[in-house]
Amino acid sequence: MRHKNKSVTHSASAALGLLLLCFHIASVAADKVPSITPNGGLTDAEAHYIRQRQLLYYRDEFGGRGENVTVDPSLIFENLRLRDAYVALQAWKQAILSDPYNLTVDWVGSDVCNYTGVFCAPALDNPKILTVAGIDLNHGDIAAYLPEELGLLADLALFHINSNRFCGTVPQKFRRLKMLYELDLSNNRFAGKFPRVVLTLPSLKFLDLRFNEFEGTVPKELFDKDLDAVFINNNRFHFDIPDNFGNSPVSVIVLANNKFHGCVPSSLVNMTNLNEIILMNNGLQSCLSADIGRLVNVTVFDVSYNRLVGPLPESIGGMVSLEQLNVAHNYLSGKIPESICRLPKLENFTFSYNFFTGEPPVCLGLEAFNDRRNCLPGRPTQRSAAQSVTTILHSTFFSAVCLLSSIPTTGLLSPSSVLSPSASLLSTTAAAASLFTSSTTTASLFTSSTTTISSTPVSTPTIPGSTRLLSTSTIPASTIIITATTIIITATTIPNAITANLLHKAPTTSSA
Ligand SMILES: *[C@@H]1O[C@H](CO)[C@@H](O)[C@H](O)[C@H]1NC(C)=O
Ligand SMILES: *[C@@H]1O[C@H](CO)[C@@H](O)[C@H](O)[C@H]1NC(C)=O
Ligand SMILES: *[C@@H]1O[C@H](CO)[C@@H](O)[C@H](O)[C@H]1NC(C)=O
Ligand SMILES: *[C@@H]1O[C@H](CO)[C@@H](O)[C@H](O)[C@H]1NC(C)=O
Ligand SMILES: *[C@@H]1O[C@H](CO)[C@@H](O)[C@H](O)[C@H]1NC(C)=O
Ligand SMILES: *[C@@H]1O[C@H](CO)[C@@H](O)[C@H](O)[C@H]1NC(C)=O
Repeated sequence: MRHKNKSVTHSASAALGLLLLCFHIASVAADKVPSITPNGGLTDAEAHYIRQRQLLYYRDEFGGRGENVTVDPSLIFENLRLRDAYVALQAWKQAILSDPYNLTVDWVGSDVCNYTGVFCAPALDNPKILTVAGIDLNHGDIAAYLPEELGLLADLALFHINSNRFCGTVPQKFRRLKMLYELDLSNNRFAGKFPRVVLTLPSLKFLDLRFNEFEGTVPKELFDKDLDAVFINNNRFHFDIPDNFGNSPVSVIVLANNKFHGCVPSSLVNMTNLNEIILMNNGLQSCLSADIGRLVNVTVFDVSYNRLVGPLPESIGGMVSLEQLNVAHNYLSGKIPESICRLPKLENFTFSYNFFTGEPPVCLGLEAFNDRRNCLPGRPTQRSAAQSVTTILHSTFFSAVCLLSSIPTTGLLSPSSVLSPSASLLSTTAAAASLFTSSTTTASLFTSSTTTISSTPVSTPTIPGSTRLLSTSTIPASTIIITATTIIITATTIPNAITANLLHKAPTTSSA
């Protein structure tokens, strides 16, 4: 089929402005603000600065951007969808400031299915025509932004651009991507509010926004959406976890290293598909719900580095699938229930830096455990009375539990000193954050542009101190079929690849 097309000019625009913006960020990184590293986070001041610059350059009805793509009339396209894809990809190419691996150098001409990182398949609604079904520019180290024209890729099922230097926001016109199943924007420089447009995507199952600079609240609707995996860790989100959290059908959810606060939602126990949940380092308060034991399929449960108080519920002993349990760095107290240490699959139980006063002997037989810095009689490296006083002066009232029994001088504990924020807490929080700066890779789903796409991790992930931590669960929906006949994504290794990288970002410097 041949189409001779007239020249079409797409909305002219702030392309230049955005280019300047990104250059400006680059130069900020280079000289004015030396603390910005390729993988590093931005400081609040830097984020503020970028936001300001963006406001200056936004133009169209969404505050978005458009490019000026002209389709050469001599180009011949197999069908109109590929022609649309050409416009989208050329607009994107115009938005690129730096492409150190020359990935987009071959983005020339009408054969878009042959472009590096672009994958075609027969359209779902019309198997006779070829359309762009996937984009994979993972680990490209490309500096650019996402132009609104990407909304022209209406048949896109996978969009993977992790570990690049994409900045700006997610285009509003992504709402046209009705087939989008996996969206991986992780480890880039996206900023601004939570990209609400993702909530409008009817097919979306896998959402990965981790290691960006998103900020503000997370819309409640996220937890009512039919998603299978949600990674929003290591951003600047700041909100109370809403009550409908437990409505989420996810099997994996990672909120770690944001500024969430409020209570651990009691609706958590309603999450019947849940396999792995990581809420670490967020400032969550409250006790763990007594019926938490209903989460019988959960293998990884991590609420470390929060402000949880009270005892560990006995019912955790009913979480029979549990392999990794981390409650360290909270204000938990009481005795460790013996049933927890008898859990059949428990491999690693970390409960250091709390105020536990009793530990059944069976816990000492676990493959891996950490009970340091508690109030456990007869155990090494516990809190000394002096340390406890220091800590307690700066922690919550509940943390007094084990001290009050051993130190008579409770007169020290005036309400204001007990409740004031803790320098040591802040420093442990910073230490926790630094745990997550090491490099790993995320699976590259595409190994070829031909008929079968298999997922293989680019390299073995390394997780500091715990290589097995997140490697055991499965993501049931990750075997996906984009089209009836052609591209079959047999994702047998996706679970490992995804979960082993629950928290980690990939190096921007690794080759694609
Ligand atoms: C768009 O690009 C064409 C060709 O490069 C140029 O002639 C035209 O002036 C541009 N339009 C705008 C509004 O920038
Ligand atoms: C990319 O292309 C430029 C110019 O052709 C060349 O100098 C550079 O070495 C290429 N980079 C890679 C990684 O191939
Ligand atoms: C696709 O690209 C390869 C090299 O990258 C080239 O040899 C081939 O001719 C291209 N196919 C078409 C149809 O352009
Ligand atoms: C769990 O779900 C049930 C049924 O939808 C609901 O009635 C209950 O309130 C939920 N529990 C919590 C703790 O949210
Ligand atoms: C646990 O998983 C099984 C098998 O997938 C499922 O049938 C069951 O409903 C789940 N139970 C809970 C409480 O999550
Ligand atoms: C157990 O888990 C903790 C916390 O995630 C980790 O620091 C530690 O290295 C793990 N231990 C082993 C032996 O995997």
